Amino acid sequence: MKANIIGSSKAITDVLSLVSRVAGNDVTVLITGESGTGKEMVAETIVQQSPRKVKPFLKINCAAIPSELLESQMFGHERGAFTGAVSRQEGCFERADGGSLFLDEIGDMASMTQTKLLRVLQEQEFERIGGNETIRVDVRLIAATNKTLLEEIKRGKFREDLYYRLNVVEIHIPPLRERMEDVNELVGHFVTEFRQKYNKPELSISRQGMQTLLNYSWPGNVRELRNVIERAVVLSRTTQVESEDFPEKIRQPSLLPGDSNEEDHIFTLQEMERMYVRKVLEYAGGNKLKAARLLNIDPKTLRTKLG
Ligand SMILES: Nc1ncnc2c1ncn2[C@@H]1O[C@H](COP(=O)(O)OP(=O)(O)O)[C@@H](O)[C@H]1O
Ligand SMILES: [Mg+2]
Repeated sequence: MKANIIGSSKAITDVLSLVSRVAGNDVTVLITGESGTGKEMVAETIVQQSPRKVKPFLKINCAAIPSELLESQMFGHERGAFTGAVSRQEGCFERADGGSLFLDEIGDMASMTQTKLLRVLQEQEFERIGGNETIRVDVRLIAATNKTLLEEIKRGKFREDLYYRLNVVEIHIPPLRERMEDVNELVGHFVTEFRQKYNKPELSISRQGMQTLLNYSWPGNVRELRNVIERAVVLSRTTQVESEDFPEKIRQPSLLPGDSNEEDHIFTLQEMERMYVRKVLEYAGGNKLKAARLLNIDPKTLRTKLG
């Protein structure tokens, strides 16, 4: 896939400018931002612009693999290192030698694995699991996380020394709701992509359809926007994508004051509070602790407010 980062907001032009400055050298980059903001895409762009683009580029998602398996995927193992290790296996660090390695969701890496990774970063060497041969590699590392690593450090979940090793340059991608001026361009890009894919060359988006997209806060960021457009392109029955082609959730008027001018549409403060708390809880992915933290109330109060 050829990464093509769309957007002209200051946030995106700043990201692209950083990308072009870090691409040419081997500096370790930490990409941060909520899920769906384009972290993997930024990693791909860095590699594409780097001299290592002709060398191997491997990716590992640290959140998707149990920790023992993750270590073996990263560093490899010798035959008989553990049950099921029927033959020697090279890990990603070895296979990416000369090239680049993307460690996604690094905030979810177990602390034992963090320690081993720190050593590779400091000394460019490691051993396969169950082996004693020291292997030296030349790998450019790019990491990404949707967690706030400084908070994870405070909670004792992430090694501070590893953080400083990874975060030589941080590229932060703000959530889409903070750069809504990109929505128009992104929608155009995705409509073009999907009308080709689904063979609906005449299709465009109506004004009212675009307005609906601009009124929504996009908790799932660009990934969510892309999915919404794909679905709408498939479902549309005319040559225009209309609001009704979007899921209910997107079409709901935002719960902000000023939306209704009829008296029977005025919410009481308590109703408003409950709706807002629900919205934040949804934003926090249903995690009550996180929602309470975001609202700066304790979890008990949150439960009462949910009614
Ligand atoms: N600026 C952008 N321009 C075009 N597509 C984007 C952009 N940001 C994200 N995407 C698309 O959104 C989806 C999620 O991006 P991804 O890089 O996987 O996000 P993350 O790794 O932060 O979760 C992908 O399909 C990607 O192509
Ligand atoms: Mg990702």
